[in-house]
Amino acid sequence: MKKNMLLMALLPLLSLHGDGNAYKKGEILYAQKGCNGCHGVYGEGLSSYPRIVHKPHYLLVKKLKFYRAKTGVMNQTAQIMIPFAENLSDSEINNLSVYLSKYKANEDAPRYELPYETWGDGGS
Ligand code: HEC
Repeated sequence: MKKNMLLMALLPLLSLHGDGNAYKKGEILYAQKGCNGCHGVYGEGLSSYPRIVHKPHYLLVKKLKFYRAKTGVMNQTAQIMIPFAENLSDSEINNLSVYLSKYKANEDAPRYELPYETWGDGGS
């Protein structure tokens, strides 16, 4: 009986952890942790920095945990991600992955144009 009461008291707290909340938290983390510096404000990527929005949630989680673990076989490009993943908690990884996989551009935010694609060495 006591256990049931405790469970009932905790249920409203659990519902706070729905996806909507994770999305918002992920959005804040994305800017706070400086992910936009390489992957772009919209997660669109540029040259060797991959696009990370609209990829499956499981894949983003898997990749971030892979970089965080630092134990897998990585090339130099992948090693760039280690300092940005190593301090993320499981829930931060989840929140970021919810945000990125479900990413929807904020139509009211100021925009910049991407009139052409850059390739290879950036055209120099
Ligand atoms: C200094 C630049 C830099 C910053 C800052 C950075 N990344 Fe990355 N990220 C990279 C590079 C380079 C790769 C490609 C690594 C590879 O080849 O495996 C990458 C790969 C990824 C991938 C895997 C994409 C895929 O499809 O394989 C994810 C997910 C990711 N980053 C998320 C993040 C998040 C979340 C943050 C912020 C916490 C972040 N990155 C910050 C450079 C950066």
